[in-house]
Amino acid sequence: MGATQRVLLGVSGSIAVYKAADLARRLMDRDLDVQVAMTHSAQRFVTPLTFRALTGRPVLTSLWSESQEIEHVERGYDADVLLMAPASANLIARLANGLADDVLTTTALSSQAPLLIAPAMETNMWLHPATRTNVSTLKSRGVVVIEPTSGALASGRSGLGRFPETQDIVQATLAALGTRSSWSGVVLLVTAGPTFEPLDPVRGLTNRSTGAMGIAIADAAHARGAEVHLVLGPTALSPRSGVHLYRVETAAEMLAASEAIVDRADVIVASAAVSDFRPASPSVQKVKKTSAGADTLPLELNPDILTALAARRRAAPGGARATIVGFAAETSALEKHAKAKLAQKGCDFVVANLVGPDRGFGPQETEVLLVSKQGPSEPHGPARKAEVAEFLLDRLRPKEDKRS
Ligand code: C5P
Repeated sequence: MGATQRVLLGVSGSIAVYKAADLARRLMDRDLDVQVAMTHSAQRFVTPLTFRALTGRPVLTSLWSESQEIEHVERGYDADVLLMAPASANLIARLANGLADDVLTTTALSSQAPLLIAPAMETNMWLHPATRTNVSTLKSRGVVVIEPTSGALASGRSGLGRFPETQDIVQATLAALGTRSSWSGVVLLVTAGPTFEPLDPVRGLTNRSTGAMGIAIADAAHARGAEVHLVLGPTALSPRSGVHLYRVETAAEMLAASEAIVDRADVIVASAAVSDFRPASPSVQKVKKTSAGADTLPLELNPDILTALAARRRAAPGGARATIVGFAAETSALEKHAKAKLAQKGCDFVVANLVGPDRGFGPQETEVLLVSKQGPSEPHGPARKAEVAEFLLDRLRPKEDKRS
């Protein structure tokens, strides 16, 4: 592995400064070296001492303190990435206009490292034409804008402008750094989402899966440097990162798309909710209310994609080293069913979760039990799916370390 990568974390004046303290820790958890710089207004919300204690490094606070005079230039040259989080409307305006009136903006001008900003402000400030123009200017220069989210704001109002989730900021930072990790260069195949099995040209059998968990795993692995192939059933969701994406509809299409990649896969994660059955002979024409036989629906079994992929991968060169992960969505007896599935389907791990109409599906939080061939089961959550994805990637390390 190369030398530790350095992040210059620029903190500007927003109530979200307190979240930047946690962000600094989460970046350090990823083995990054974090140097904090603060604006004057940021220091009115949280003292530099907080960041100094967290990072173990003196915080850059002024261009003019005797010991720090040229630090900004040094730090600017040193940093592998500059991350302004939270970025206030004022900081965004100063960056867009190329000002060099404090440590953050001067560092931004003197550095050639990628610049990321994670804005946090009131909705009206974020939507103001001046801010819109400044953000577009920064984007046109290649600055990565980690979009603010919608929700409760410091003012008590609710709207767009909320500081992005820490996990998303960490992921964007890792992606900008192209971090060399144990996932770097690893070929990951993920199946995700529901399948849709046509009955006729307009109707079909499907389920409640949205693909959110598999998409989160794909995005997180991409940020860690993996070569990710995501085979995704019909869903309104999309991956945010540049993974290889194959949109499919039926189980047969999902299997075919996966088979094209599986022999190269170091890790296979089958998170798709595949229809067990499909209509045996879908009608070419729309079935009419009056059609004879409309009261019965002859079905046939779909292939078990995970079982097929696991068997094929194990038989191909290097198959013993591949890591194969299944999912088990259950409504009861989670661990028992998950253990049975480990053996049945030839998996190294099964990620089990309880599901129902009000839990498990969609972009909300989830709670999983990671069941492995060796070792005890490990629960995780409730947590956001992006966070659960990081937990899973930490545990499902590829068997062979591919670091160069
Ligand atoms: O047997 P069950 O559907 O409960 O198993 C769930 C696991 O098997 C998941 O990993 C799912 O993606 C996979 N599976 C599959 N093809 C099927 C059915 C399930 O890949 N036809």
